[in-house]
Amino acid sequence: MSEEFARLTIGDTTYKLPIIEASTGERAVDIRNLLKETGLITLDSGYMNTGACTSSITYLDGKEGILNYRGYRIEDLAENCSFTEVAYLILHGDLPTFEALKSFRQDMRRFALLHEDMIHFFDSYPPNASPMSILSTTVNALHNYYPEMNESEDPYGGYTVTAARLLAKTRTIAAFSYKKSIGHPLVYPSPRMNYCENFLNMMFDRPNLPYKIIPEAVSALNKLLILHADHEQNCSTSTVRLVGSSGANLYASISSGVSALWGPLHGGANQAVIEMLENIYADNKDFEKYISKAKDKNDPYRLTGFGHRVYKTFDPRAKIIKNACDDIFEILDINDPLLDIAKELEERVSNDQYFIERNLYPNVDFYSGIIYRAIGIPTNMFPVMFALGRLPGWIAQWTEMKEDRTRIGRPRQLYIGHPQREFIAIKDRG
Ligand code: CMC
Repeated sequence: MSEEFARLTIGDTTYKLPIIEASTGERAVDIRNLLKETGLITLDSGYMNTGACTSSITYLDGKEGILNYRGYRIEDLAENCSFTEVAYLILHGDLPTFEALKSFRQDMRRFALLHEDMIHFFDSYPPNASPMSILSTTVNALHNYYPEMNESEDPYGGYTVTAARLLAKTRTIAAFSYKKSIGHPLVYPSPRMNYCENFLNMMFDRPNLPYKIIPEAVSALNKLLILHADHEQNCSTSTVRLVGSSGANLYASISSGVSALWGPLHGGANQAVIEMLENIYADNKDFEKYISKAKDKNDPYRLTGFGHRVYKTFDPRAKIIKNACDDIFEILDINDPLLDIAKELEERVSNDQYFIERNLYPNVDFYSGIIYRAIGIPTNMFPVMFALGRLPGWIAQWTEMKEDRTRIGRPRQLYIGHPQREFIAIKDRG
């Protein structure tokens, strides 16, 4: 708490509101007692300026383009770590020792199987079912097979076993949902492979065509998952916290997070970007048509992959992904016309006054889909990939919310409907 106060004057009365300081220097006005003291609530739809919690997981500076997990720069983590190592960091607060990482990796392998009864779930969906819908419902159903241990039951303390189970099994669910959608037999997780290898193998191995692990694909996948691993209080993470604040179990809370992520303004954007680039390509590369539509105030169309609520400069994740994109295309000797379309679109947008004035730069989703395509992931699985990456963040945020004994989330509203009306019985309503 700082020594300073904000002063709010309403009529003749001035109220003193405490100012709270973050470990990185940002300051917030504490309005928790505002209603009690003044009788007023605050109105902030879209939570443009509302801090919903304190957190020690992720630091983000949107003006400077900084993103740190547990104090470590995203650039360093993406360059040097595996996704499993970063997941451990996010969940436990510190980078793992060699032994701790080994044991966490073993957990990922040990917990990767799904209860055989759950395999029947996948048979019940129509072949064209959305993988996000399968992911959200099956994650929720995990609760019935692996009830979450509470803090005192877990042999390692906290929610360690439940978190490891959820990470390992969600990967299996994601790959199974894809196999079912193409009508292929399921490929079970291997007890010998690392997290990303295992996922790619479950996705692409076939009885008549064994999958050969491509180290560059594994490395690209590791990087993409790391870049998505947490992003402080966004729509899906806030949903996970809000649902969890009612006392709902971890699986139910994460399942809600998957649903919140689904939309094209959030985790569905990576899929929408590819569809947009394909449209531009199919439209004889008529870039101006799409840019003009995005600028037209009477047209709801937007250039997906541009803009961010918090970043008002280049999204640091997009920078890393763009470089990774060039690398993987060169190494795998791939030629995807969509990469050229994306680069030209970015170039045009970066010189356009509309986008410059509004600080609309490429975000994490602009180039991520192009890499997923390069490593063979189908477009409708892109939001699922985002969810796999974000899982450690959701679990850590849920756990932090529990440990902070956060009160149930319950926003206020400003009612603008009829104040009160006299009831008229149906026979008299004419
Ligand atoms: N194309 C055209 N105009 C845009 C775009 C865009 N992609 N994004 C924002 N604008 C305009 C918007 O029309 C508004 O203009 P004006 O001030 O004249 O009304 C201004 O920029 C501010 O936009 P906003 O909608 O108030 O900003 P927001 O913070 O509410 O929305 C956003 C952020 C990411 C939803 C939005 O930029 C957007 O819709 N982008 C496209 C979807 C997308 O790429 N989503 C992925 C986000 S990154 C991954 C994640 O974290 O989920």
